[in-house]
Amino acid sequence: MTDLALAILVAAGRGERMGAGRPKAFLALAGEPLLLRSARAFESAASVGSIVAVVPAEQIELARALLAPLRKLKAVVAGGVRRQDSVLAGLRQAPEGFSGVVLVHDAARPLVEAALVDAVAAAAAAAGAALPVLPLVDTIKRVSGGRVLGTLDRSELGAAQTPQGFRVDVLARAYEQAFRDRLTVTDEAMAVERLGEPVVAVAGSPFNRKLTTPEDLAWAEGVLGAAGPAMTVLRVGTGFDAHRLVEGRPLVLGGVEIPHDRGLEGHSDGDCVIHAVCDALLGAAAAGDMGRHFPSSDARWKGIASRELLREVARILREREYRVANVDVTVIAQSPVLAPYLEDMRARLAESLELEPEAVSVKAKSTDQLGAIGRSEGIAAQATALLRRNP
Ligand code: CTP
Ligand code: MG
Repeated sequence: MTDLALAILVAAGRGERMGAGRPKAFLALAGEPLLLRSARAFESAASVGSIVAVVPAEQIELARALLAPLRKLKAVVAGGVRRQDSVLAGLRQAPEGFSGVVLVHDAARPLVEAALVDAVAAAAAAAGAALPVLPLVDTIKRVSGGRVLGTLDRSELGAAQTPQGFRVDVLARAYEQAFRDRLTVTDEAMAVERLGEPVVAVAGSPFNRKLTTPEDLAWAEGVLGAAGPAMTVLRVGTGFDAHRLVEGRPLVLGGVEIPHDRGLEGHSDGDCVIHAVCDALLGAAAAGDMGRHFPSSDARWKGIASRELLREVARILREREYRVANVDVTVIAQSPVLAPYLEDMRARLAESLELEPEAVSVKAKSTDQLGAIGRSEGIAAQATALLRRNP
C-alpha cells in the first residue's frame, strides 16, 4: 500500500497585490485566517495523511499556534524567495522513503473543498501528475501597450488551480531539472510539462479562486455570507412533563416560586416547566432525555433546583455546538392563576439558557376543569425548542 498524500500548503508569499501590509494567508476570511481555512480542507480529505505549512520565517510561531488543532499537521517551515523555493522547503519535510502523492496548494485558495483534494490525489496517483483546471468563460485577447493584437482560441485554454498533485518521484525529477536549468516556474505542473511527462486535468471549481486582491477577499466574504445561512442546521424538539400537586411543598414553575397551598411532587423541585424545556432541548439535539442525564437514582440530583439542570442541559448543547434559536412552553394548570408569573418565568428560563428573553415564550392554559388537571390534582407543561448549528 502506498503512503497517504503529503499536502504542502504554500503561504510564504508577501501578498503585495492584496496590499494589507502583511502576508495574506494570515488575513481573516469570515473571521478565520486563509491558511487555517485551506488547511481544514486537507484535514478532512481522506486522501491526505499529513500537512506541511510553508510560511514567512517571522510567522512560524503564529502559524504553529493557528494550526495546532489539526491532527494531520506535520511541520511548519520557513519559505523562500520564489514560490518554487517555498515548495522545495515543504518537500524536504517528506519522510524518508515517502512514496505517495505530494499535493501543493496555495493557502490563498481558502475555498478549496476536500472532494477536489481527493480527486486530484487520485488522478495524480494514477497518472503521475494532475491539477484542477477551470475552463475560461471570457474571450481571451492578446494585448500589448493598450492595443489588441489578436484573439486566442479559448477552447484549448484553461486556468490552472491548486492543489496540484504529483507522485513524489515525478515532482522531485521535475524540480531537479527546473533548478538545474535555473528556471522559474509559476506552478509545479509547468516543471513536469517540461519533462514531457503526462499531466492530467481534473475539473476545477469556480469557488477555488486564488484570493489576490482586496476585491477577491470581498468576493469570498460574499460567497461565505451567502452560503452561511443556507448551510445552518436547524433542529426541532418537543418535551412534556406532569407532576402531582401535594401538600407541604413550595410550587416552583419555570424557576419562579409561586404562592400556593400545594407544590409539585418530584425528585428535584418538581418544576415541570423546566423539565419539559430540558427534554425539548435534549430532544432537538437527539441527546437523550432528562432521565438519562439526571437519573433519580443519582443522589446528586435530589432536591436540586431544576434551574441547575437547565444550565447543565445548556452546557451539553454548547458542547455539541448547538445554539438555542427559541423555546416555547405551554403550562397546563387549573390553579393557581399563572398569568402574573409568566414574564418572570420567561426571564428566568432565558437567563439560565443565556438567551435574550425574546427567545423564550411561556403561556398558560387551564383545561376548563376537565380531567385530573382540571380537578387541580397536578400541573403539566409541554415545550418546543429550536436549535441551530453553524458549520
Ligand atoms: N508563495 C510562497 N512563497 C513565495 C511566493 C508565494 O509560499 N515565495 C505562496 C503564496 O503565499 C500564495 C501562493 O504561493 O499562497 C500563490 O502566490 P501569490 O498569490 O502570488 O501570493 P503572494 O506572492 O503572497 O502575493 P503577491 O504576489 O501579490 O505578493
Ligand atoms: Mg506572488
